[in-house]
Amino acid sequence: MSTESDQKVVIVGGCGHVGLPLGLVLASRGKLVTLLDIDRGKVQQVNSGCMPFKEEGAEELLQKLIGKSLSATLDVACLRRADVVITVVGTPVDKHLNPTVAELYRSVDKLLEQMRDDSLLILRSTVYPGVTKLVYERLQMLGRQIHLAFCPERIAEGKALKELVELPQIVSAFGAEAAYRAERLFLAITKSVIALAPLEAELAKLFTNSWRYINFAVSNQFYMLARSYGLDFFRLHDAVTRDYPRMRSFAKPGFAAGPCLLKDTLQLSAFASNNFFLGHAAMLINEGLPNFIVEQLRPLDLPVRCVAILGMAFKGDSDDPRESLSYKLRKLLEVQAKEVLCSDPFVSDPSLVPLAKAVNQADIIVLGVPHSLYRDLTFPAEKTVVDVWGFWRERMLEADAERLRKRPVEVHL
Ligand SMILES: NC(=O)c1ccc[n+]([C@@H]2O[C@H](COP(=O)([O-])OP(=O)(O)OC[C@H]3O[C@@H](n4cnc5c(N)ncnc54)[C@H](O)[C@@H]3O)[C@@H](O)[C@H]2O)c1
Repeated sequence: MSTESDQKVVIVGGCGHVGLPLGLVLASRGKLVTLLDIDRGKVQQVNSGCMPFKEEGAEELLQKLIGKSLSATLDVACLRRADVVITVVGTPVDKHLNPTVAELYRSVDKLLEQMRDDSLLILRSTVYPGVTKLVYERLQMLGRQIHLAFCPERIAEGKALKELVELPQIVSAFGAEAAYRAERLFLAITKSVIALAPLEAELAKLFTNSWRYINFAVSNQFYMLARSYGLDFFRLHDAVTRDYPRMRSFAKPGFAAGPCLLKDTLQLSAFASNNFFLGHAAMLINEGLPNFIVEQLRPLDLPVRCVAILGMAFKGDSDDPRESLSYKLRKLLEVQAKEVLCSDPFVSDPSLVPLAKAVNQADIIVLGVPHSLYRDLTFPAEKTVVDVWGFWRERMLEADAERLRKRPVEVHL
């Protein structure tokens, strides 16, 4: 057994959005970290010091650590030497929107074949409630002496390095030794841990994501309501939040998308035997926002218009297009408009076009996600701009005022 300072940690799914930042932070705190992954391309990229996705500050750190306290591999043999194995493989819902418990369960079984007794297994993927207990029972049935913990990841992509060291870590485990070891590991990177029982921790993670998803749905619903009456939602948002602390959590509207929020709301719903009305309502609202945009554009004679969507990632300044609602909007517009051109400076997708082409050719421009580098864009006055995020609002108001100032004075006799 290694000491805490030269602990060997293997992260399964280590080249992904959760695994790689965690590996970087652990390696920077003296752990010997191996990133185990099945994606050959990503493993090669990481070993050559390049990040496979955008993450603030990560590439610099990767170049410092790779080949020293950090390496990536396809070879499961690394599991045999590990003191700690952390699994962060994806836990998507299936095509019928049900949780995929069996897959995670099977993938853990493969890890157990390689892991040695007295090591610690940490589940870090967001799991369907009860999965940690199932894995614990499996360990007992197999007569294995492997310690088991569930410590859910709570970072937001893009801010992972900062959040991993700043946010408290939720730690849950079966048995005191597992809890102690998991706590010690996370106290090497963050100041505080919060102890919960495994089922509590599983629910805490799902509550977090579902709450965010519902919170965004409230704003999106209010946005659609105000717009349906021709009102400027952002005037209302400003009026009810300004110097009024009780409305601090009133989010701005926008696409609530990505690989986590919807699927975790669905996991919680499945756990609640589908009696999760708030979650279902949030899903209808958030997934309905692209449809609302199309409805609002219909009077503009879409069949003869070219529409551009700027920003195809699931959120601003990200290169991750997983479950992006900009793609849903594109699908809807493709059957309504003459042409749809999509652009994103970060997303790698051969169907996208350069920004200038999208802007020049479009009659209507829809902001898919607010990337910072779109901030200073300006558009000719004859183009219709749709910005549900309120990202360009100040400038659009100024441009409207300018147009009004320049309008020839009408003289009525
Ligand atoms: N992305 C986020 O911001 C975030 C935040 C908190 C929690 N989570 C949760 O973390 C989990 C992982 O999400 P992610 O965004 O990192 O996914 P991801 O797809 O970016 O990463 C998963 C990685 O696992 C690898 N992988 C898949 N099967 C494997 C296997 N059998 N052995 C080894 N590697 C394997 C993939 O190649 C990929 O590199 C999910 O449960 C997700 O809900 C994600």
